Amino acid sequence: MPEFLEKVTATAPSNIALVKYWGKRDKELNLPLTSSFSVSLSEMNSTATIEESPTNEDIWEIYGNPNKAKRVLEAARLSTQDRRPLKISITNNFPSGAGLASSASSMAALAKALNLFLAKGEMSLDTISHWARVGSGSAVRSLHKGFVLWEAGSDDFGEDCLAHTAFEASHFPLALTVCVVDDRPKPISSTQAMEISRKTSPLYDRFHEQNADYIEKVIQAVREKNFDILTEVSEANCQAMHAVMRTSNPSIDYFQIGTNKAIECVLRMRRQGIPCFFSIDAGPNVKIFSPPEYADVVFQNCRQLKDLRKVLRDFVA
Ligand code: PMV
Repeated sequence: MPEFLEKVTATAPSNIALVKYWGKRDKELNLPLTSSFSVSLSEMNSTATIEESPTNEDIWEIYGNPNKAKRVLEAARLSTQDRRPLKISITNNFPSGAGLASSASSMAALAKALNLFLAKGEMSLDTISHWARVGSGSAVRSLHKGFVLWEAGSDDFGEDCLAHTAFEASHFPLALTVCVVDDRPKPISSTQAMEISRKTSPLYDRFHEQNADYIEKVIQAVREKNFDILTEVSEANCQAMHAVMRTSNPSIDYFQIGTNKAIECVLRMRRQGIPCFFSIDAGPNVKIFSPPEYADVVFQNCRQLKDLRKVLRDFVA
């Protein structure tokens, strides 16, 4: 047996926040100002593969800029003191960098794979979560399944900044339809955009002051399996985050024509008695949640829309 594993692979799911994170209390450690609440998906995920580099340098096979991943690797090296050069590849089975949480799932998959390769799988979930978080804040949520609460905590080093599954997916089954308006990487990263909002948006503080209320309501909605309350809270929180972005200077607007068409479609379906709600992150794509028995009709309605590149399907798992 070799002393070390030769090649390891780990996967992690994408997650979509229903109560969103849009502001940091520590930029270096990616500690959020407030808590967030998300759902982890079944089909959209990232896979990280690690083996020893055949050269004296790290080799990155990763979509786009590897800076976030380099931060995760450095955190893992600090914890394990293992500095062998590595060959790291990360793939996503869905569009990358377009507000579909690919950095969350890819940094979570990378942290899990580093734990296998550098620590033989022996690091605690808290440590793996710390590694993932320094790459991308929301990656912490992709380490857990179902309905996930990521608590902001107050410790300066993020010791209490952890996520956990608040409810299993089976407690309140939800389907997801994703209207892909644009699958190219976003023009401005969420990290840059958050910083512009912090410095300039008059709504930034208000958004964070209301967070505790949103979190309480979203937990109540899921606990009571109340789709109407979940609709109200999720859309209000999403709109509030985008209002913070739009009132930033320069104004940040990730929406495109197809985004507004998909929102109109959601409102139209609701008027027709189809329960569904939308959520949009740092990108133009629209995620539409519905009870699973309505997933087909939501999908058919979305497929009729112009200005979309494609429509994807998934579910909370
Ligand atoms: O973790 P980041 O830096 O990719 O930021 C994620 C920000 C949003 O997706 C817009 C909101 C969220 O909570 O996922």
